[in-house]
Amino acid sequence: MIVSSRMWAGSALSAAGVLALGVFLWQAGRHADVAAADKPADKPADKPADKPVVEFSDDGKMKQPTGYRKWPFVGTPVTPNDMNGGDAPFPEFHIVYMDPDSFAHYEKTGEYRDGTVLIKELTSVGTKEATSGKGYFMGEYIGLEVSMKDAKRFKDEPGNWAYFSFGHKYPLKESAVMSPAASCNACHEKNAKDFVFSQYYPVLRAAAPKKK
Ligand code: HEC
Repeated sequence: MIVSSRMWAGSALSAAGVLALGVFLWQAGRHADVAAADKPADKPADKPADKPVVEFSDDGKMKQPTGYRKWPFVGTPVTPNDMNGGDAPFPEFHIVYMDPDSFAHYEKTGEYRDGTVLIKELTSVGTKEATSGKGYFMGEYIGLEVSMKDAKRFKDEPGNWAYFSFGHKYPLKESAVMSPAASCNACHEKNAKDFVFSQYYPVLRAAAPKKK
């Protein structure tokens, strides 16, 4: 092959281009390193230290929480429609999660700290038979309920616990007003320990410090 002067000029140009790109990437990389060094090492990148677990709009509505499927899981009660006259009040699987920092506090103390958030994500029963046998197998996500303890924000609620429902059908509500205490809080206050139904959450029972 004969190398023409045009080809030679072309490859010299592209060599310069590659060099320029290399310098650019090297500098960009240095900037990224500096930015990464600014972050506290123990916080994952998607949760800056000051980001609250749940957010509220200016008029006091809770915004639909995100990221909770990665939180500690505490238990899954199931109230299937077919055992509840075809229409369970909370259909059907209830996957319950607790925010990570409050879970860590619970492990140490057995108590729900101020700021605790619990998520109850509702999932339909899909099939009732699998290769493992007959039963109730999870179907689709269908609803979302949240409870939160906050002495400042919910100072007038019994136990400072407030309850929010984002609906039982997708698409879920983008934000939810606090449910009246009579619709949610009252039953939790009367029937649960410290407002949380830990009797149905083996993870919480196992995580609580053993009484000496
Ligand atoms: C008649 C009683 C009753 C009422 C009313 C009630 N709940 Fe509950 N809730 C329960 C029980 C029992 C559980 C645990 C077992 C289960 O999930 O079925 C629970 C669990 C929860 C949980 C998981 C954390 C926890 O505290 O155990 C959330 C969140 C929740 N409910 C939200 C709500 C909201 C929001 C409302 C009102 C719209 C509401 N609940 C009304 C009985 C009730």
